[in-house]
Amino acid sequence: MVKLADFIKLDAEIRKKTHIDLPGSIENLPDGEEREAGNGGFADVKPSINWDGEVEDELDAEQDPDAYWASKRKDYYRRFFRHLEEITASAKNGVVEDLNPLKESMKAFLQKNELIDIMYSTALTSKEYPDNVICHSVNCTIYSIMVGMKVNFPIEKLQELGLAVLLHDIGMGLIPESLTEKKGSLSHTELAEIRKHPVIGYNFLKKAYPDMPFLALTAHHEHEREDGSGYPQGLRGNAISEYAKIVGMVDSFEALTHKRSYRKQLLPFQAVQNIIQRDKKKFPRAILKALISRLSVYPKFSYVQLNTQAIGQVIDVDERFPLRPTLRIISDSKGEKVAEEYNISLKDNPLLYIIGSAEPPAEP
Ligand SMILES: [Fe+2]
Repeated sequence: MVKLADFIKLDAEIRKKTHIDLPGSIENLPDGEEREAGNGGFADVKPSINWDGEVEDELDAEQDPDAYWASKRKDYYRRFFRHLEEITASAKNGVVEDLNPLKESMKAFLQKNELIDIMYSTALTSKEYPDNVICHSVNCTIYSIMVGMKVNFPIEKLQELGLAVLLHDIGMGLIPESLTEKKGSLSHTELAEIRKHPVIGYNFLKKAYPDMPFLALTAHHEHEREDGSGYPQGLRGNAISEYAKIVGMVDSFEALTHKRSYRKQLLPFQAVQNIIQRDKKKFPRAILKALISRLSVYPKFSYVQLNTQAIGQVIDVDERFPLRPTLRIISDSKGEKVAEEYNISLKDNPLLYIIGSAEPPAEP
């Protein structure tokens, strides 16, 4: 018997209790197989959308950059949330939403370089959004775009990837709520019904958006794995859509960085270690490498707690020492706001290390 919430997050691969090493280093992660030939297991898929369109007006970020980026962060997170909520609600009623507003949001989002780090921090640490399949999809979208950037996707493919990942679990929304909102455990029959969601999503997206076949393919393949261990078709390697490979991997990362009834929430680098140790044959080497270098690090602007209990904001990350960023300390070991904030480099202070993420201070 499996609980639905756990299923949604873990794709029915029930995770063992996770051993936690603190502090760790990504240098020590197992090296994996030889690099795959060509482009790391990706099929060479050309983007199929013309993304030309209007660019939204820019606000002035100079006067109050903190307020500006805080408002952008909320704005884009909510935009993606609402787009998906609306598309799902309409799909339930047999109505196909026009995707142009979502395309425009995605395009505008990708034009703001700084936003991706801020959104990463939001996806990882914010408790202001519900722990449901819509937020799960928004978070996966942010992580996928980071991976896509690292594997040098051109902007057109990042935009397609963003759309495809946001809609990848739409099949879940088309399964009767009596099942998806069931509080208790699921029987094997119910679990089998839930496992139909990639096919349900595929059928819907294929019909609804025939001009964007990558949407349906991503939904269909998101639970397929490189070594053939996935479902529904047990596909392998290049038979799996490249966007689906990315969403499959970040899906696991998203699950591991959220608390579950049988384990605590993992820090980003612990989640990455966990995936590398257990699932390295399930994903192409190129995207695993991108996961290590982009998602192991503490996101810039996020808040973390030190072993002294002090809380600081990540202000700088040296890629060579991703687990030892520079912090601006905002509260002391007793949880009291420091009289004057100061910077501390964990690289230069070996006795200090991060024990977890922290909530941002309440806005005045
Ligand atoms: Fe799924």
